[in-house]
Amino acid sequence: MTPSPYDDYARALMSSTPRKIQVAPSLLAADWAHLAQEIKKVEEAGADLLHLDIMDGHFVPNITFGFPVIESIRKLTKLPLDAHLMIENADRYVDEFRRAGCDWLSVHIEACPHINRTLNRIRELGMKPGIAINPGTSLALLEAALPDADHVLIMSVNPGFGGQKFIPSAVEKVRKLKSIIGNGKTRIQIDGGIKKDTVGEVAAAGAEIMVVGTGIFGLPDYRAAIHDLREAAK
Ligand code: DX5
Ligand code: ZN
Repeated sequence: MTPSPYDDYARALMSSTPRKIQVAPSLLAADWAHLAQEIKKVEEAGADLLHLDIMDGHFVPNITFGFPVIESIRKLTKLPLDAHLMIENADRYVDEFRRAGCDWLSVHIEACPHINRTLNRIRELGMKPGIAINPGTSLALLEAALPDADHVLIMSVNPGFGGQKFIPSAVEKVRKLKSIIGNGKTRIQIDGGIKKDTVGEVAAAGAEIMVVGTGIFGLPDYRAAIHDLREAAK
């Protein structure tokens, strides 16, 4: 098909408004023997948030860390702490995550049968509520809860481990969610396999908050890694 003059116009419009993303390094991929330095390094490298992956060995086949560790991390940084709960019975622990120092809290739609109540409790406690959704779960499940969420965390890998391969169908899922949200205020966060080569397409589809583990901590220069992610998202 011959490109129309409107294509050029659309391209010019898009390039005149570069996309701004937020970068949330996922500590899962950090060197835990030197956690304080790792946090300082990503903070100085321009991270916007710190992503904390909480796994219970039931909802996902892996176990990470809990409240005492979060409390220690809280003392090390002023960055907002963005906790991603991959746990069963998330409701039971929401208050405790606030006490430990979390600022954002995402719960999985698959683990929360009373999602509106959970999101409202998270907000009431002064945190930003988010709904996380697995690659195999339909967006139809969370549509009714969207007005109660500040963000939706779209998983672009099956949760449980860092360093997995990006699942390409997540791009279409982001695009679809963006069209459902329309002018609403809910923002899209994406998590899993986000690197220099995948961040562009998810940003173009409408994701604004990028969770990145091995794509930052797996590289020698965190500042360069975050800079490259922002550039690739434009
Ligand atoms: C996976 C976690 C992710 C993970 C991302 O279950 O939710 O936050 O740390 O790691 P990468 O960026 O390496 O895929
Ligand atoms: Zn995560």
